[in-house]
Amino acid sequence: MMKFWIKDLLLIVLNICAVKGFTEINVSCVYNSICILSCSFRYETDVLHWHYITRTGHVNVHSYYENKDQFEDQDPRFNGRTSLVEDQVTGRKTSLMLKNVKVQDEGTYRCYISNDDYGAQTSYVVLQVDAPVQRVDMVRAGNSATCSSEGVYPKPELTWSSSRQSSSTVQQTEEKLYNISSSLKLSDMDGDLLLSCTVSTRLNKWTTTTMWRNPIVTNTSRAQISCSYTSTSFMDFNLLWRFKHTHVIMRWNRTDGQHVSAQWKKHVEAEKVSDVLHLHDLSSDQEGTYSCELSRAEETTATHTLLMVTQKDINTAVFWFMVGAMVVVMIVIIMVLVYHCWKHSKSDPMRGQPLERGRVQNNEHEMEMMMMEMKNNSIKINKYPETMKDAV
Ligand SMILES: *[C@@H]1O[C@H](CO)[C@@H](O)[C@H](O)[C@H]1NC(C)=O
Ligand SMILES: *[C@@H]1O[C@H](CO)[C@@H](O)[C@H](O)[C@H]1NC(C)=O
Ligand SMILES: *[C@@H]1O[C@H](CO)[C@@H](O)[C@H](O)[C@H]1NC(C)=O
Ligand SMILES: *[C@@H]1O[C@H](CO)[C@@H](O)[C@H](O)[C@H]1NC(C)=O
Repeated sequence: MMKFWIKDLLLIVLNICAVKGFTEINVSCVYNSICILSCSFRYETDVLHWHYITRTGHVNVHSYYENKDQFEDQDPRFNGRTSLVEDQVTGRKTSLMLKNVKVQDEGTYRCYISNDDYGAQTSYVVLQVDAPVQRVDMVRAGNSATCSSEGVYPKPELTWSSSRQSSSTVQQTEEKLYNISSSLKLSDMDGDLLLSCTVSTRLNKWTTTTMWRNPIVTNTSRAQISCSYTSTSFMDFNLLWRFKHTHVIMRWNRTDGQHVSAQWKKHVEAEKVSDVLHLHDLSSDQEGTYSCELSRAEETTATHTLLMVTQKDINTAVFWFMVGAMVVVMIVIIMVLVYHCWKHSKSDPMRGQPLERGRVQNNEHEMEMMMMEMKNNSIKINKYPETMKDAV
């Protein structure tokens, strides 16, 4: 009786020692990645059990005995995600490889190994899961700016560069990851606006700095929009230009070089790589917000610039040209018609008007004849009085 009691006590003490740190290893794994929980044993394995410690006891993760993997007792949550891999120290297949690590996998794992000749060994691995901050987005709507990040674990913190009034909300997804979002009230709307927001968690942090520039107005078909406002060279970043926040115009990075999307090829001068976007052949279709994003590990800087094109559309220009051309053509037609009529009137006496003129001419002739007659008569008359005088 006494012997059993001592044995039990010894086991408990051993277990406590193990948990307290003798054979306890801390492991941190990235969410959704592959995780190795190591377990070293110098001798050949006859029996191996990986267990996950729960509040009430343990569940089976992976077992090996009778020279093969055994899955009868495996807890469903580890289905298809486990295998044994070589331990780095001993080269024996005793370490546990866990795929698609979930937040729920966090906790303590126990490795029990025994060899029929040399005895057994128990060790513990404490697994911590991290879903690092992978990007922080900042958007502006009306007189507030919103900073957000998604799929982070453990619970992140969010800080603004500005001390203005802000409110944060944190939500946990089904996968136990956190979505965080915070809105900042903006007071003065005019002028360039620069804001910075940082989301941090246990493993890392990410800062996004965003500048909203004053609009650019172009009255030609060309424009230049610059991206960086810091002295840091854009060459160290991944560069991304977007139109209206969604359409990708161009990407650039040191390894992959430059990619201009097909529908922007005719508007973007792509020969020289720089952080200035050279645009040409612009019409009102290219009016909108141009966003540039420079990002590298844990840091994003973005600028948003509204471009306005005041140059008349090509279509409008064509329309007015057509109107002008039609007016000119009509004037010419009228002039030709008028000239034609006038010329005909001169050459064709059978026409109404020339007939009139003919008659007038005839009348004139008659008048002349009459005048002649009258003259003669008057002479006669004049003569008569003379004769009359003579007579008198
Ligand atoms: C493991 O982590 C716990 C808390 O996270 C810490 O108290 C302990 O010292 C760590 N153990 C080792 C071996 O690093
Ligand atoms: C968290 O963000 C993800 C990605 O945007 C989204 O699909 C999900 O619905 C969000 N969950 C909650 C609880 O807000
Ligand atoms: C375009 O604007 C510039 C000044 O910004 C002005 O000098 C030029 O005359 C304008 N051109 C046209 C065609 O309106
Ligand atoms: C460069 O850009 C491509 C996509 O355009 C991306 O897949 C790649 O990861 C980027 N390279 C680096 C070093 O970030």
